[in-house]
Amino acid sequence: MALTLLVENNPKMIEIYLINLATYVGLEVIVAKNKTEGLSLLAGQPIDLIICRAKIGSDEVALAIGEALTSKALSTPLFIIGHGLYPAMAHGTLPNGLDLRGVIKGAASALGITAQQMVDKKVEDDFPVPARYFEWINYPVCDLFSKDGKRLCAALEKLDRSLWKTDYFLYVSKLDRLKIVDQVTAELVGRLEDKELNPDESIQAGTSNYGLLSHKLMSLGLNEETIALAQKSMVSLRRHVKAYPKLGHLLQRMLNNQAGYLYRHTQVVTYISLHIVRNIDWGTPEQEDKIAFISFFHDIALETDSQAVVQSKEELRTSKMPIREKTLVEKHAQVAAELVHKYPHAPMGADQIIRQHHGMLNGIGFSDHFGANLSPMAIVFVVAEEFTRLILNKEHGPINGKELVRELRETFPTSRFQKIIDSLEQVAF
Ligand SMILES: [Fe+2]
Ligand SMILES: [Fe+2]
Repeated sequence: MALTLLVENNPKMIEIYLINLATYVGLEVIVAKNKTEGLSLLAGQPIDLIICRAKIGSDEVALAIGEALTSKALSTPLFIIGHGLYPAMAHGTLPNGLDLRGVIKGAASALGITAQQMVDKKVEDDFPVPARYFEWINYPVCDLFSKDGKRLCAALEKLDRSLWKTDYFLYVSKLDRLKIVDQVTAELVGRLEDKELNPDESIQAGTSNYGLLSHKLMSLGLNEETIALAQKSMVSLRRHVKAYPKLGHLLQRMLNNQAGYLYRHTQVVTYISLHIVRNIDWGTPEQEDKIAFISFFHDIALETDSQAVVQSKEELRTSKMPIREKTLVEKHAQVAAELVHKYPHAPMGADQIIRQHHGMLNGIGFSDHFGANLSPMAIVFVVAEEFTRLILNKEHGPINGKELVRELRETFPTSRFQKIIDSLEQVAF
């Protein structure tokens, strides 16, 4: 088995890399938490691959490791994650350390392991997972077994952690192993704080957390855990709005990090609707909280990017989605509204705006016409959604803001809408 040296200081990131590299590529990994440990582990034994955080604290770790390799004339592949200085001899670099597919592919290619070999890798029928990973899971996605084959927990049931010791292994069927690894990974990413992440990783964590939350809300409903994750995700979305004075830069960052359409849509709607509320004369901080809340939750019932792309009756009718998905898309406004209705301290009236965000009073289906009796806040949201759709159609650039505003004015010719649209003239791309 190839021995990999991982140099990383964030304990949650370390766990994420360990479980993914072991499962997907079959690597044995030793961990160094800083430059000194890294250099000493490197000097102590033959290493087949190094995965190294570029910068830890003020130390340019990747540079130091690169110099050590060069001075010993070693050609060990060096794969660098995160932001910092990259030595010229690096085998690969990945600014977004949460791009796990990139890390896995990079590690495999550095070791000459092909995708086919990864798929063909022989795996025991009962796949062992260190029990400590289940500290982060409350409802496992698959059945869990003890070593002697006794079922400890059924899929999606509440886990009773008193059934084993943390230094044990639990077992899952080999067919479920990637599912459980992805679940552990999503839970660990969900526990990363924004301050532990660079801007690329923060976008990636946002995508992952939004998906995790949506899945949990639909399967478990509202509870302490889902509410905490929702709060955290909303804060992160608003932080991204603040961090990027130009929308184009945020879009670029999301595209670079392969954030899915659904998340990009949610992020941009948040950006635009907050922009409107901040630039109209009746906007207040409470209104900002309300519109950010609505933006975050309005499509939370959707599961996939292809569901999120559907914006009209006709698109839904001609879509090739299975019936179950079509029904979900049709009802997603209603489902989200019902959820928000039960959400503790949800802003007043948020559920109603979410229910009607596709123009239907009962939240089922799509309408091309919005009723004349929409509240001002509902108009803000409808305009923000349509503007977002236009932006994402052009997201690969260049974006001509003036052109998009003109298009928007044609779609919503009445004066109540036009007044709101005025504020979009100042969006910086
Ligand atoms: Fe939407
Ligand atoms: Fe929607």
